[in-house]
Formats: sequence, C-alpha cells, structure tokens
Amino acid sequence: MAMVSPSLLAADFACLGTECRKVLDAGAQWLHFDVMDGCFVPNISFGVPVLAGLHKALPDAFFDVHLMIRDPLAYIEPFAKAGASLITFHLESDSDVGATLAAIKAAGCKAGISIKPATPVSALEPWLDQLDLVLVMSVEPGFGGQSFMPGALDKLSALAQEKRRRGLPFLLEVDGGVDEASGTAAACVNAGAEVLVAGSAVFRAADPAAAVAGLLRL
Ligand code: DX5
Ligand code: ZN
Repeated sequence: MAMVSPSLLAADFACLGTECRKVLDAGAQWLHFDVMDGCFVPNISFGVPVLAGLHKALPDAFFDVHLMIRDPLAYIEPFAKAGASLITFHLESDSDVGATLAAIKAAGCKAGISIKPATPVSALEPWLDQLDLVLVMSVEPGFGGQSFMPGALDKLSALAQEKRRRGLPFLLEVDGGVDEASGTAAACVNAGAEVLVAGSAVFRAADPAAAVAGLLRL
C-alpha cells in the first residue's frame, strides 16, 4: 500500500490550514511542501513563514519539505525550526551534498535527495546509504499540473532494485503528474514507489478526500 503526500502547491492558498486538515482526515500520511526560489526553478511558491504557520496550526502533521532552491544548505536551519519533518533537496543544486545532508541530520530532520528527469539514478549512488528518502521527479520541477514523464518508471524500478539488493532503508517517492485516473499512480507503485506526491489529482479533484482514499488503496 502506498503512502500519500498531497502537494500543497495545488491547494487553495486562501485556506491552507483547512486544506491540510481535509487531506489528513482523509488518511494522507504526509503533507508535501514545495519550496521554489525563482532561481533553481522558474517559479516562486512559499517558504519558511508559511511552513511555520501550518506547523503551529497542525503540530502533529508530517511536513515533507521539497526544496527546489539553488542553495538549500543556507536554508536547512530555518526550515527545520519552522517544523519540517523531512527535508529533500536537489542533487542538481549548488550546495555541497555531504554538507547539506549533515546539516539536515544535525537539525533533527529526516533527509532526502531528489533528481530531475535528466539526472541518472547512478548520480545518487554515493549517497543512497545516508538517505531516508529518494525523490524521483516525474516532471521538470517548477510547476504543478504537468504531464507525467514515463522515464521516471525505469528510475523507480532501478532504485527499488538497488534498495532491495543493499538492504537500504530509504523510502522511494515520486512527484509530478501522479494520479489514479490516468494510471500513473498505479504504474509508479508497481515500479516500486512507496510515497506518492499528488497535487492536482488531490486538491483539484471534485472530492479531495476520495482522491486521497483512491491513491491510498494502490
Ligand atoms: C513540481 C512539484 C510537485 C507538484 C506536483 O515542481 O514538485 O510537487 O506540485 O503537482 P502535480 O501533482 O499537479 O503534478
Ligand atoms: Zn514536490
């Protein structure tokens, strides 16, 4: 059974707390918090104060923070203090990977690394044994509502195989264009994904709670 991390990027920002409550009540285990800086990706979303506000309103929620920013190392401490449970940064960012992982752990958070569609799985090899999560992007990061790129499925399979072979504990997450109706969510689970990030498929659905329930059954 997959875990679900609804992406708040597709939520109604005028009532974010209520939107979070709705998907948590529907059984979503995590909340996916997409941070964009307008540099690493061509879009700006939300940041530390918004996370702090949500964490204050929902102190028990697990915040799955996805940093799509050029220098994640400089922002680990503020996001950890604001309530991040897990911080994922991009292998393609400018920060030193080892130092960023160390900073995330020192701040008491779980640590993840994400790869963009053009980055091969082999680039993750040196870090896999230090990770709590690997995030495979199935769209170019920057915007919600894009179409799933099927190349992500081979990456998920390869990572799932490597995880089994080495007995590694990291969770395998996929993000972008994931939904039940098109079959992409099921394909990801079949390929080994354990956490499904879904923005549009949840918050733009007529019934977000039913959308979460559908993904949880996969
Ligand atoms: C894209 C973000 C995703 C995005 C997913 O840069 O990382 O989390 O919000 O949105 P959907 O599910 O609509 O593709
Ligand atoms: Zn994301």
